[in-house]
Amino acid sequence: MQTAMTTPITARRLLCGVIVCLLGVTVLSAQEINGRWASTGKLLENGEAQLRILVLKQDGEKLSGSIETLSDTHNVTGSVHGDHFELWGVGWSDVKPFITGELTNNELHGTVWGEPMVARRATAKDVISHQAYIPPPALHKVAYNGLAKTPPMGWNSWNLFAEKVDDQTVRTMADAMVTSGMRDAGYIYINIDDTWEGVRDAKGNLQTNHKFPDMKALADYVHSKGLKIGIYSSPGPRTCAGYPASYGHEEQDANTFAAWGIDYLKYDWCSAGSIYREADLQPIYQKMGDALQATGRPIVYSLCEYGFGSVEKWAPEVSGNLWRTTGDISDKWESMIENIEKQAHTAPYAGPGHWNDPDMLEIGNGHMSGDEYRTHMSLWALTAAPLLAGNDVRTMSDETKSILMNREVIAIDQDALGKQASPTKNGNLETWMKPLADGGVAVGVVNLGSAPATTKVTLKELGLSKQVKSVRDVWAHKEVSFTKGVYTVQIPAHATLMLRVSVD
Ligand code: GLA
Repeated sequence: MQTAMTTPITARRLLCGVIVCLLGVTVLSAQEINGRWASTGKLLENGEAQLRILVLKQDGEKLSGSIETLSDTHNVTGSVHGDHFELWGVGWSDVKPFITGELTNNELHGTVWGEPMVARRATAKDVISHQAYIPPPALHKVAYNGLAKTPPMGWNSWNLFAEKVDDQTVRTMADAMVTSGMRDAGYIYINIDDTWEGVRDAKGNLQTNHKFPDMKALADYVHSKGLKIGIYSSPGPRTCAGYPASYGHEEQDANTFAAWGIDYLKYDWCSAGSIYREADLQPIYQKMGDALQATGRPIVYSLCEYGFGSVEKWAPEVSGNLWRTTGDISDKWESMIENIEKQAHTAPYAGPGHWNDPDMLEIGNGHMSGDEYRTHMSLWALTAAPLLAGNDVRTMSDETKSILMNREVIAIDQDALGKQASPTKNGNLETWMKPLADGGVAVGVVNLGSAPATTKVTLKELGLSKQVKSVRDVWAHKEVSFTKGVYTVQIPAHATLMLRVSVD
């Protein structure tokens, strides 16, 4: 039987007079939207339907509450106008609501991250069963695995393909890494990000989903091209996209990855946040560090927990080769600059085998200008960041190729000394200096402003103890000369002057 709380709003409309509706529509919605809603909007590639529970509370036109999935629980805030509602993640810096929709026939119809969503009133049976807490191991130091002496270089599927990556994409990308010259420029790892996962078999072995019919065969193919292959998992029960992850199966999954021939693991915190506390970060990452080493296969270990818990201070202790220092990058100037500046304080912790990771490259994905992408590449190189291309290598423009495969810039990133440049600001100009193994220095001057600006680089400020032999503009590919120890040049908006100064 329908009660006043559950009468469909459209039926109410038919029943009520115009004046009552004008006065009462917001109030009626207020009655309706409060409560628990269950949606099985997202069908995963492994056949599972992802249950999502929305708990909503309305106060006038304001909404608050939480959204729970197998991956995590997140507080939301939002608004209702008539039948229309919008929800935003608390603490997220999104420019658009991530859920929007209408209250229709006592159901919520709308979209989550642009994907269709229908939510009905939740019943007592709609419960997300969370797994029990497995206490983390005692801390100890995991030995350095001897890998990533220079920042890892390669390609990762997430920035462009997100959940649409599959076996064929990876194979054709591996082909293109060779034919485009990317492999020979140093981009060796082909990394499959989230959404390759299937379900666990009777013995608990994690299988691939239909998009990756035979991971071992794919790894063999990638290896046959002179490349290496990477994969992705999470210490929680679910990955960020909601797929089964390594919680309680750490050793088993490490063995599976090794048996497939995997060379690189990105281990993404995601749903681990709904089980563990911040104090558990190090021992939980240590658990996978140990498991990887126990396989006997050299596997680069990439920590992804967005910089929580001063990761740069302990990641080498768990044999981490690189660790994310920020949230996700997007193909926007502001996002790229924000990520690189956010990790500036971590500079002392970078060095051979151990790198700060401001996230993957967006170069070639189409939403920044050529100058902005050159700045992106310059800043990643100056800060000894991993260079993981995130574009479609099969269809790169000549300009994208000239940026990603600029050997002089790559050499600065890959410099054996492994120093991470730090910035100093002067108005809109930001200068980054990176000491190099040959005693020289790389200097980048970024124009953060929206108008051209003139910079004067003086030899004195470089602090070199030896005589300067030559100075090269590594984007113009030519020598530049200093007049009385000063080089004056105009830098276009959002562009970077990048010099390599060599000494006798
Ligand atoms: C997180 C990571 C991203 C990507 C996605 C995959 O957001 O930070 O780099 O791996 O998960 O779901």
